[in-house]
Amino acid sequence: MPNIQVSALAPSTQVIRFNRPHARNALSLALLQETATALHAAQNDDSVRVVVLTGDDKAFCAGADIKEMSNTGIPMWGQSERLLAWKTLENFPKPLIAAVEGYALGGGCEMTLLCDIVIAGQNARFGLPEVKIGAFPGDGGTQRLPRAIGKSRAMWMIMTGSLIDGPKACDWGLATEITPAGGALARACEIAQTIGDMSPIAVRMIKEEVLMTYTKSLDESLSLERKLLLWQTHDHNEGIAAFLEKRRPVFSGR
Ligand code: CAA
Repeated sequence: MPNIQVSALAPSTQVIRFNRPHARNALSLALLQETATALHAAQNDDSVRVVVLTGDDKAFCAGADIKEMSNTGIPMWGQSERLLAWKTLENFPKPLIAAVEGYALGGGCEMTLLCDIVIAGQNARFGLPEVKIGAFPGDGGTQRLPRAIGKSRAMWMIMTGSLIDGPKACDWGLATEITPAGGALARACEIAQTIGDMSPIAVRMIKEEVLMTYTKSLDESLSLERKLLLWQTHDHNEGIAAFLEKRRPVFSGR
């Protein structure tokens, strides 16, 4: 049985659904690599404008597969195949939306931290409980969680392994929006559709520019932002023309 299911639930939106329900969608190496392969394909497919990651009603993803941990001699976060797969997620240039129901723990929570928008069902539970197995969040959690929710809350979550529910995750800025239980995927697809109607080149530039906040100084990223603004695209001309002609723009991604 494949570890993920890939489908199109809306035009221009690709949904990658984790499919290890017996293991609460734990991130086995196979699941991680299949996800990376699907993202590579989505990146090269112009008809895909937004990707939604989701799980099932019990779990988005319960983190690294703890049963797999003892199978290898080296720490799993040091395996090159795993690191490469994480890099694919990290560098994915198109919008990535997480639709979370149930548990998003450990590596599953770290995946949501790499998503651009996170929609959480009322029953969602977020946490980085690695400390309980004598580890720490080694796939970006120690760095991205404090940036998302602040140092004190991040320290509390990471040091105690405590989980927070969907409403609190939304309140703290870890999630974008909360839906009734079972409604996260539909809402994520709705948002994906809105973004999918925009100019893909503008959306790609927005993602690149916003992510510079995490990697560059303000001076450096402001000057890069100005350089990016100098780009003239067909879509920009089309957007202006459509506004003046009072019609919907047709964006081509050029
Ligand atoms: N890895 C492997 N198997 C897992 C798993 C995981 N992360 N999480 C759940 N499972 C398995 C369980 O072992 C169980 O399998 P069996 O039926 O064979 O016993 C099955 O999924 C169902 O799990 P539960 O019966 O525990 O279901 P629950 O609904 O009562 O609890 C849960 C769900 C809260 C997610 C609980 O399973 C749990 O705490 N899982 C571990 C979560 C965790 O610690 N994640 C962090 C992992 S470490 C990491 O990501 C990064 C790192 O260290 C580098």
